[in-house]
Amino acid sequence: MMRDDNKQADDFPAPQRAAASSPRHVGIIMDGNGRWATSRGFPRVEGHRRGVEALRRTIRIAGEYRISFVTIYAFSAENWRRPAQEVSYLLGLLRRFIRNDLAELHASGVRVRVIGSRENVPPDIISLITDAEEMTKANTNMTLVVAFNYGSRQEIADAARKLAQQAVRGEIDPAAIDPAMIGANLYAPDIPDPDLIIRTSGEQRLSNFLMWQAAYAEFVFLPIHWPDFDRAAFDTALAEFAARDRRFGALSAAPADPAPVGRAALTGS
Ligand code: FPP
Repeated sequence: MMRDDNKQADDFPAPQRAAASSPRHVGIIMDGNGRWATSRGFPRVEGHRRGVEALRRTIRIAGEYRISFVTIYAFSAENWRRPAQEVSYLLGLLRRFIRNDLAELHASGVRVRVIGSRENVPPDIISLITDAEEMTKANTNMTLVVAFNYGSRQEIADAARKLAQQAVRGEIDPAAIDPAMIGANLYAPDIPDPDLIIRTSGEQRLSNFLMWQAAYAEFVFLPIHWPDFDRAAFDTALAEFAARDRRFGALSAAPADPAPVGRAALTGS
């Protein structure tokens, strides 16, 4: 996906689902950077640095595979609790990622979106995020959603607060609040729900990532640390996804684009 030349549209046709067995949206919990590093005698931050390399690789492969949406868990709302030096390194990596990789992502037709709370985020990072979203907003080959300062509980609480404020203003009837209205007030209501969530490092939990959106996602947990994530690991996760029988609560396989109560149903996307 990220290539050396500046061409984009010609040989990157509009994204489409190759088959119902391919995920349209993949969420990734990039876990195990610290363990990868310490098991090799490196400082933890070296794991994060190598994690960014794995991320670049992954975006390229996802582009090749015509995956339309990739959401990465870059920094959780809870990650502020880590030692100041590690937090500062992670923020530095994000700054460098946007500064160094944005042009290439843009040239590859990647639209960048950032979800999460903007509270406590240094102003220069907010500017970088805003500029990256603005610069890439018309790109159509892939959407890279960066979950930064993100937590699902906060996201759902923020949506509840917005709806409560609308109710107080008399704009909506509290009795009419339903899942679709909650979905429409999340951080990125136009992005379809993830079909597949991959977590590396062997941990098997969601850790406050896309909890609402993952209601019908398939989960694949890989026993490798994030810096080791490569094409073979991606292929393993995609093959596992293709073998799953997705029924969305029904008895038979669902249509290719079910979105039963999801945000996509509201927006028609
Ligand atoms: C989990 O590993 C990973 C993170 C908390 C951060 C992930 C961030 C990156 C891969 C790089 C920064 C992102 C961008 C977009 C530049 P861990 O530290 O929790 O590992 P451990 O569980 O082994 O300690």
